[in-house]
Amino acid sequence: MTTTPHAPRSRLETAPVPRRDFLGLAAFWSACAAMGFALLGAMRLPRAAVVPVPSRKFRVTLPDALAGGEAFLPPDRTVALFRDTGGVYAISRVCTHLGCLVNTDPSGFHCPCHGSRYAADGTVVKGPAPSALPWLAVKKLGPGSYLVDEAKAVAAGTKEVA
Ligand code: FES
Repeated sequence: MTTTPHAPRSRLETAPVPRRDFLGLAAFWSACAAMGFALLGAMRLPRAAVVPVPSRKFRVTLPDALAGGEAFLPPDRTVALFRDTGGVYAISRVCTHLGCLVNTDPSGFHCPCHGSRYAADGTVVKGPAPSALPWLAVKKLGPGSYLVDEAKAVAAGTKEVA
């Protein structure tokens, strides 16, 4: 048995890749390509069309000890609720100037941002606020329990039966 000597390879000729290495490399690059396409596909998935927004309606139970004309401020809400002889009503605490949250005081409301003052019924006493604080819809649900809609303004003076 004779062996033929290999002819010397040119330096420009690439070394032959063994079949096992070739299949391994092909599998590796195929997997990389599949993951790349999957990633591109995931990035093109449609975004949610509906963004969850907390409801602007909420239930509130007024404390029995709430004095007439005294403000009740539900936590995490932007309204002040009042109860007097005429009924229950809600006034927005969002300043009509630039949207700061106004504070309540015995004479009405005052804005900590630029100093606007509002009377107890929400009308502007001192600017720069351009308009009165809006009154909001209130609906009685049961004894001491009310549904307030922060998104629905009503005419000033509108009260729900206590
Ligand atoms: S935001 Fe209230 S006075 Fe400017």
